[in-house]
Amino acid sequence: MRRKLVAGNWKMHGSLVTNKQLLDDVIKGLNGVRDGDFAVCVPYPYLSSVKNLLQNTNIALGAQNVSQYEKGAYTGEISASMLNDFECRYVIVGHSERRALFGETSHIVAEKYVTVQKAGLIPILCVGETLEQREAGVTERIIEEQLTAVIDSAGIESLCKAVIAYEPVWAIGTGRTAEPEQAQDVHMFIRSFISRQNSNTAKELIVLYGGSVKANNAAQLFAMPDIDGGLIGGASLIASDFVAICQAVGN
Ligand code: PGA
Repeated sequence: MRRKLVAGNWKMHGSLVTNKQLLDDVIKGLNGVRDGDFAVCVPYPYLSSVKNLLQNTNIALGAQNVSQYEKGAYTGEISASMLNDFECRYVIVGHSERRALFGETSHIVAEKYVTVQKAGLIPILCVGETLEQREAGVTERIIEEQLTAVIDSAGIESLCKAVIAYEPVWAIGTGRTAEPEQAQDVHMFIRSFISRQNSNTAKELIVLYGGSVKANNAAQLFAMPDIDGGLIGGASLIASDFVAICQAVGN
């Protein structure tokens, strides 16, 4: 049985003061909630303080990026083993903002995915098409390419120790959510693409939906058979919304 997961992606938001306020409320709201796994992926400088705030809670810590290199002369970069030091469980790799704004190719994303797993952490691998690609009818081909880059580097079975997040680029931060059935179609495609290579891996694989998930649409999305939870941007910054979204995995 796949467990559902809701992970917040804070992106470049927060401060010591607001993080504490947010987490105090989220921790309270999720206290005792056992249906599902929960995480927050925070900016690097806050890993240490958030790690302390999350102690003895049911919320795991995650990072939003990592270097593809293990160590060395890479000024400004952060390695997977450093993230391990802060007890991170998850690392987002290949978010569309990193692909589009920071030149991350599928090859670099695959390297990051491998590095994260080597350090014993769980990559949350983001895939998804742009509006242009969807309108050109190439959504499945784009996702297949993004997945294949990782499978070629790490092997199909590596996906048992990973999470995939389907995030249509046109739905991220736009308020334009994919319809539950529209998202389900792509999730089903992802699972059947993996199933053709290894059916057990496909059954185990956790596939999250991301892109304008809100408190009022989460339950419908999470009710879809191949949607195993969500990667939540904007709404993860509002405690009551994030808690409601987390609770929606149990409905
Ligand atoms: P959003 O972001 O929920 O604000 O659309 C999702 C994401 O980018 O992971």
